[in-house]
Amino acid sequence: MAVPSLLATAAFLLVLKANMIMGAPYCGPVILASDFDLVQVALNLEFLEAEFYLIGANGEGLDTIAPNLAQGGPPPIGARKANLDDTARRIIQEFGFEEVGHIRAISSRIGGFPRPQLNLSSQSFATMFDQAVGFPLVPPFDPYANTINYLLASYLIPYVGLVGYVGTIPSLVTYNARSLVASLLGVEAGQDAVIRTLLYDRANETVLPYNLTVAEFTVQLSNLKNRLAGCGNKDEGLIVPPELGAENRTTSNILSANSDSLSYARNAYEIFRIIYGTGNEHQPGGFLPRGGNGNIAKGLLITA
Ligand SMILES: *[C@@H]1O[C@H](CO)[C@@H](O)[C@H](O)[C@H]1NC(C)=O
Ligand SMILES: *[C@@H]1O[C@H](CO)[C@@H](O)[C@H](O)[C@H]1NC(C)=O
Ligand SMILES: *[C@@H]1O[C@H](CO)[C@@H](O)[C@H](O)[C@H]1NC(C)=O
Ligand SMILES: *[C@@H]1O[C@H](CO)[C@@H](O)[C@H](O)[C@H]1NC(C)=O
Repeated sequence: MAVPSLLATAAFLLVLKANMIMGAPYCGPVILASDFDLVQVALNLEFLEAEFYLIGANGEGLDTIAPNLAQGGPPPIGARKANLDDTARRIIQEFGFEEVGHIRAISSRIGGFPRPQLNLSSQSFATMFDQAVGFPLVPPFDPYANTINYLLASYLIPYVGLVGYVGTIPSLVTYNARSLVASLLGVEAGQDAVIRTLLYDRANETVLPYNLTVAEFTVQLSNLKNRLAGCGNKDEGLIVPPELGAENRTTSNILSANSDSLSYARNAYEIFRIIYGTGNEHQPGGFLPRGGNGNIAKGLLITA
């Protein structure tokens, strides 16, 4: 893996220099990265989801359920058991267990790394939500307070994984990596659809004590992700203008997709711009305060 990694790092440097000169975020495919490097980008998200779901549902995460998979990475900061209704708790718990399987599959079939430092504190989410709505929410948004808040916080995450997987598949060379990512994508897309459906059911509800509905929050959160990633509209809320609805015929938007109802795709840089919350793949923050693990994330930090 050393040679592809070096090549990949050299390629990033070229792309990055180009970006710095042009000043525009890079939106094309990641070039000259190995399958190993590309799939590992997603492992950061799988850790994030596993811990957020497991601890949110059960009050305990990977260190209890499958400690070996954390490979000695530091425990997540700030996650806690959420105040969920019974149905949501069962669903989120299942999602958490599914993420454990994903971490095991990537680690055993591609190669893993230690769990990165995660910041899942309510402040971490509150910061993202404030950025999304454009003013400080009072009191600060707490993802763990109740079911609707937790689902809105979850709205941020599997969709990023989904579009990342869609963006990765065309760049993969080996059958092994392509088949693994296709199978991960299937479950990730399912999780996203379930979360969006649960939220759609309550789209017109006001998220107390804020003067914003569930639908309005989703639109703002999607807009934030589009702004952070800097590559156009690839993320849409639950209620959209008809121009963004399927076949321009509906304003419901249970699935976020393009004008042919094909999934949007994002590259690794866009993914890091979003989950770092900084809009800059070289500047860690947000849910990954020390940055992601794996060659692509580490290479981006070196060139920051
Ligand atoms: C977690 O993130 C929040 C919000 O950005 C920040 O205030 C807090 O200091 C972070 N916690 C740690 C331990 O880094
Ligand atoms: C939300 O309100 C709009 C406008 O009143 C209505 O058309 C729509 O059916 C409602 N959606 C849900 C999910 O209740
Ligand atoms: C709440 O939002 C509605 C619609 O956006 C607005 O008309 C109303 O004035 C707001 N109320 C408060 C108390 O801010
Ligand atoms: C929907 O509208 C967009 C422009 O907003 C257009 O590009 C697209 O072709 C339309 N799709 C259909 C099926 O009419």
